[in-house]
Parts: sequence; structure tokens; C-alpha cells
Amino acid sequence: MRIVLVGPPGAGKGTQAAFLAKNLSIPHISTGDLFRANISQGTELGKQAKAYMDAGNLVPDEVTIGMAKDRMDQPDAENGFLLDGFPRNVSQAEALDETLRDASMRLDAVLDLEVPEDEVVKRIAGRRICRKDSAHVFHVTYSAPKKDGVCDVCGGELYQREDDSEETVRKRLEVYHTQTEPIIDYYRAQGLVVTIPALGKVDEVTKRAMDALQTAK
Ligand code: AP5
Ligand code: ZN
Repeated sequence: MRIVLVGPPGAGKGTQAAFLAKNLSIPHISTGDLFRANISQGTELGKQAKAYMDAGNLVPDEVTIGMAKDRMDQPDAENGFLLDGFPRNVSQAEALDETLRDASMRLDAVLDLEVPEDEVVKRIAGRRICRKDSAHVFHVTYSAPKKDGVCDVCGGELYQREDDSEETVRKRLEVYHTQTEPIIDYYRAQGLVVTIPALGKVDEVTKRAMDALQTAK
């Protein structure tokens, strides 16, 4: 399956993507994670992306679209993928459509994770991520690690993302409403959007998403 996951910052896209990708045996492709990996490796692409991310703005399409396409071209994505954080504006959605069309492929579904804004702010404020593996995500109250600051899965150090400060989160939410939300209408016109209420326990949300995908098939 080829799936796009959309939703505001902190909606739980990364958390859900990890479970959905495993259940569906497809790779989880997160442009945010790809950028953060480039930043920590000190690559040229990482240097280009960092200032935009720190300010809560989108990284320019010229950088982002090429990076996403390269990742989708990897052998493990041949039979499907779960996109998390891409596309993030209408021109990225059009570029993705064009790439898929050229390869005679199409998207199966766009899952729109719906969470009230006050909950999103709480989720982001308490989020802690593992330095060794960005798929290991915790929350200081909702899914606290057994030992403060230490990843339960691999023992790595937990940290708070630089762009999770209150001011930057406000900016990211504004960018979401103005630039990313329009892709929901874009995909609605293609009949692809399924809205998933994303309040509740992580496994309950995963079940709703899996049930929705069964009907989308
Ligand atoms: P990106 O990394 O994509 O960030 P985001 O979209 O802002 O989303 P987040 O990672 O903040 O949240 P999430 O929805 O994944 O939530 P999570 O699962 O962690 O992008 C970062 C930046 O990179 C952008 O601002 C931009 O600069 C750049 N960028 C990336 N892609 C780009 C693109 N395509 N074009 C241009 N620029 C791009 O969950 C949050 C917390 O809540 C966690 O602590 C988790 O444990 C907890 N939680 C999750 N689910 C639940 C639940 N059901 N109940 C209780 N707690 C929960
Ligand atoms: Zn870890």
C-alpha cells in the first residue's frame, strides 16, 4: 500500500507510523526524520534544512522533494510506503502525484489524524525522543520511560527536540494551517482522505487506522 499520513505537529504521526508500517510491512518514510539524520551527520542537506526547521518553517521544496523522491526510490519502498510529513504543501503533493503517475502507481489512502490543538500542545511539550533511534518516542506523562531520560528500548539518551519550544510550536501550527491543511482538500477531491479521530490510547488509534485502511483497499 502507498499511504500518506497527515495531521498537525504532535498529532502522533510518527507514533502511529511506526506501528502501521510494521503491521503493513512497508517502510516508514518521515521527511522530518530524514532531515534530523542529515543534521546530526553534518551533511550539506542538513546544513540547508536546519535554519528553516529551527524557525518552524518548511524547508524549501527544491531540497525536500528531491530528498523524498530519493528515499522512495530505495528498493525497500518498491511495493509500498507510509509517508509521514510529506507532502506538506500543494506543490509537494503535485510533485508526488507526478512521480507516482510516471511509475504507473497511485496512492491508496491519505489518513488525516484529527486532534484538538490543546492536546497537540500537551503532546509536544512532553515528548522525549531517543538519540540512538528516532522511532523510540516517549512522553513524560502519557508514555513515560521507566527511568527518567533513558530509552526503555535501547538505553539511549532521551532528548527534547529543539523545535519543540513553545514559540516554535506556535509557528509550526500556523504553517500547518496555512500550507499543509490545503492538501487535505486536494486529496479529498481525489477521494483519498480518511479522517481518523486520534484522541485516545495509541493502540486504539492504530486500530482505527488499520480498520480504515481495510475499507480503503
Ligand atoms: P516533522 O518531524 O515532520 O514534525 P511535525 O509534523 O511537526 O510532527 P511531529 O514530529 O512534531 O509530531 P508527530 O505527529 O509525529 O507526533 P509524535 O508521534 O512524535 O517536521 C519537523 C520540521 O521538519 C518541520 O517543521 C519542517 O521544518 C521540516 N520538514 C519536515 N518535512 C517537511 C516537508 N515535507 N517539507 C518541508 N519541510 C519539512 O507524538 C507526539 C507526542 O505525543 C509523543 O511524545 C508521543 O509519545 C505522544 N503521543 C502520540 N500519540 C499519543 C496518544 N494517542 N496519546 C497520548 N500521547 C500520544
Ligand atoms: Zn532507543
